[in-house]
Amino acid sequence: MRRLLVTGGAGFIGSNFTHHIVANTEDHVTVLDKLTYAGNLSSLQSLPDNRFRFIEGDIRDMSLVDSLFAQVDAVIHFAAESHNDNSLHDPWPFIETNILGTYTLLEAARRHGVRFHHVSTDEVYGDLELDDPSRFTESTPYNPSSPYSSTKASSDLLVRAWVRSFGVRATISNCSNNYGPYQHVEKFIPRQITNVLRGERPKLYGSGENVRDWIHADDHSSAVLAILDRGQIGETYLIGADGEQDNRSVIERILTLMGQDAKAYDHVADRAGHDLRYAIDPTRLRTELGWSAKFRDFDAGLAATIDWYRENESWWAPSKDSTERFYAAKGQ
Ligand code: NAD
Ligand code: TYD
Repeated sequence: MRRLLVTGGAGFIGSNFTHHIVANTEDHVTVLDKLTYAGNLSSLQSLPDNRFRFIEGDIRDMSLVDSLFAQVDAVIHFAAESHNDNSLHDPWPFIETNILGTYTLLEAARRHGVRFHHVSTDEVYGDLELDDPSRFTESTPYNPSSPYSSTKASSDLLVRAWVRSFGVRATISNCSNNYGPYQHVEKFIPRQITNVLRGERPKLYGSGENVRDWIHADDHSSAVLAILDRGQIGETYLIGADGEQDNRSVIERILTLMGQDAKAYDHVADRAGHDLRYAIDPTRLRTELGWSAKFRDFDAGLAATIDWYRENESWWAPSKDSTERFYAAKGQ
């Protein structure tokens, strides 16, 4: 039984990871989360008290972080400002949480000698051309496009420097786009599902040719656990599940699975600097750590996700109106 500290555990992927740990290990989880607009305590409400506790707080709070690091064996760091569109509107919270917050945690990891896993994104590599046969690997040069991805790239580089300069026992993972339960309605897939549930039309940015490499959040969780258990200190692992899809096809599949006309969506203003394509080569994770994805059928994963949003309107409805007002003001 290990004692784990999960930052950002009230968010989308952190809550899925916390459920995954409780279901698949003997470990105890402490979640540290600031409960920003993206954090939702009800994502964790079914967890048993003897396996889990929740602490509300900011990862930049050095004394709180210090006291928590003194009580745990390992830290898995998910907390972040995570939405590209918000980062184009106001980059400052991204600098604060993604860069200064990660710095605060690394200093505590250094003082306490705690094993640290840093969760990051494939967006640090920038984008690929639509017709480029290559995919991102662990040696692709960093080339982030947005305030979000540049702050995540900054945090990755801090982790690498703290490993080399101070001997912090850290690993890094860079994962592709996640889908599944508990994802905020600002993100692409839940926004479209909840639009259809409300009788609104899905919204496609620009031409919709942009490609994302989809992975179910539970597969991301099992990969992070494999890296925590068997990853080599100082190394980076890319996480992906061969899930490339263009945005237009995803919207059309959602509409079809929900019994609507596949063309019943609106084209809206494109995102500034919109990355064209992300694609992960997960060979290292598979061959060195023996990881594989369980959710290999995207339609089945999407159908289960649609069911989850249909059955959990009370989870997402409180955020829907404010999210749509934000988009409407930008013509999206
Ligand atoms: P999310 O926005 O759903 O959740 C982020 C959580 O962090 C929220 O609960 C929020 O309250 C918390 N938080 C924010 N600032 C904080 C602070 N200063 N102190 C403490 N808690 C704070 O994000 P997500 O989609 O679950 O992403 C989690 C991590 O995974 C991020 O690091 C993100 O970069 C990475 N990632 C996400 C994806 C994706 O597809 N969503 C893909 C690859 C990597
Ligand atoms: P998003 O979920 O914001 O993730 P990311 O920016 O990290 O890839 O968006 C996924 C893709 O969907 C991206 O190409 C932008 C596009 N998109 C839309 O077409 N319509 C929308 O309403 C949203 C939110 C995103």
